[in-house]
Amino acid sequence: MENLSFNEYISLVSEKIGKRDYPMTACVHSYGCQLNFSDGEKIKGMLMKMGFGFTEEPEKADLVIFNTCAVRENAEDRVFGNLGNLKRLKEDNPEMIIGLCGCMAELENVVERIKKSYPYVDIVFGTSALDRLPKLIYQKLSGSKRTVEVGEYNMPVEGLSQLRDSSFKASVPIMFGCNNFCTYCIVPYVRGRERSRRFEDIINEVEKLVQTGYKEIMLLGQNVNSYGKDLEDGISFSELLRRINNIDGEFIIRFMSSHPKDAGKELIDTIISCDKVEKHLHLPVQSGSNDILKRMNRNYTVGQYLETINYARSFISDFSFTTDIIVGFPNESDEDFEETLDLMKTVGYDNIYSFIYSKRSGTKAAVMEDKITDKEKSRRMTRLLALQREISTEKYKRFIGRTLRVLVDGKGKSEGFMTGKSREAVIVEFEGDESLIGKFIDVKITAAKNWAVTGEIIK
Ligand code: 5AD
Ligand code: SF4
Repeated sequence: MENLSFNEYISLVSEKIGKRDYPMTACVHSYGCQLNFSDGEKIKGMLMKMGFGFTEEPEKADLVIFNTCAVRENAEDRVFGNLGNLKRLKEDNPEMIIGLCGCMAELENVVERIKKSYPYVDIVFGTSALDRLPKLIYQKLSGSKRTVEVGEYNMPVEGLSQLRDSSFKASVPIMFGCNNFCTYCIVPYVRGRERSRRFEDIINEVEKLVQTGYKEIMLLGQNVNSYGKDLEDGISFSELLRRINNIDGEFIIRFMSSHPKDAGKELIDTIISCDKVEKHLHLPVQSGSNDILKRMNRNYTVGQYLETINYARSFISDFSFTTDIIVGFPNESDEDFEETLDLMKTVGYDNIYSFIYSKRSGTKAAVMEDKITDKEKSRRMTRLLALQREISTEKYKRFIGRTLRVLVDGKGKSEGFMTGKSREAVIVEFEGDESLIGKFIDVKITAAKNWAVTGEIIK
């Protein structure tokens, strides 16, 4: 039984499901980053092949899978809370299968806690064991006890069918894992070392997506700028962007995340010269203090970071940047924090994603002394958010009077309004209806808010 192929296990499960007198339904919840949501789409693709139907409500499911995130403690707490809620459901329906996968499944302390306190979780599988899901479900349906498959970080299998959440926006992972070991971050421990996909596989996937009508291709990796470095006949990330840009069709290429130590002039030149690549760079800075950056093991200084920003703006004066910032890294002083605020003003980010530092055991920062109170960290976060609201409102004014090409995404906050994203990664709101979803339109911008710009469609 052990050595059957992936497809053989799919057929076996599908046979078992076919013999039931009612269809089996799966509920897959993904947490965290876009890479994890992309894994969630692959899980759903496999389940669909096995014959499962889908529901968003665990109460209605025969199989519940939590595809988890371990980057911050609150993400973990949510999963444990949601797992706790399944206990009663499992008591009512002992045949329900419960699975846990994703980054938390790679943490020893989590697996121990599951084994000890959550006996009703049936299968646990790690970030590189997605393709083992059909086997795990087959074993479970055949009456086996709990199985845990974690640990080795293989290259994920190519060609897994994917049930995509959107019919016009597609995520395409280009690499997995991270070699950087930023001192606060758990990712290298739960996703392993950097592994790049072959560029031919990526190009083929993007070509097919564009042919089937996808309008936005989001290239994903923990550190996309390292793409190809681990491959013998690899190409650089910039070369990959250029080759994808050469694919025929109207679509936009976005990507994340970039590491400032690797995102240099070549990347900026490529963004500027490739018409399909968005004119925006998400460049996570984490802190505006050189001392903190050093203790985070980020391998760049604020000065070097600003060189990249200034280089981009020497070509496009209002080139759009967004960033990630961690507030309250161990012993972050008032001065360190003020330097972060100063950097935000200097760069003028369109938007930021900010997080209060969360201690991740096993990382280097987890054993650093930290005298800063939680209250102080929250106070700093409030100040940072208020400053960014001011900066965003001011920055977005530059679009007033301009016409932006927008890929329409969905309904807006107010009745009769729709939203979409421009090539500068700005959210644009305008009057319109749902027939526009998934289409490119031109919008003349008339006003700026602190999270978006608004305008009118140009016919
Ligand atoms: N605490 C808070 N934020 C973190 N991030 C990563 N690890 C932590 C942590 N331990 C943030 C970083 C990263 C983003 C994806 O999550 O800002 O860029
Ligand atoms: Fe984590 Fe740093 Fe790797 Fe990003 S680059 S995933 S923050 S270790």
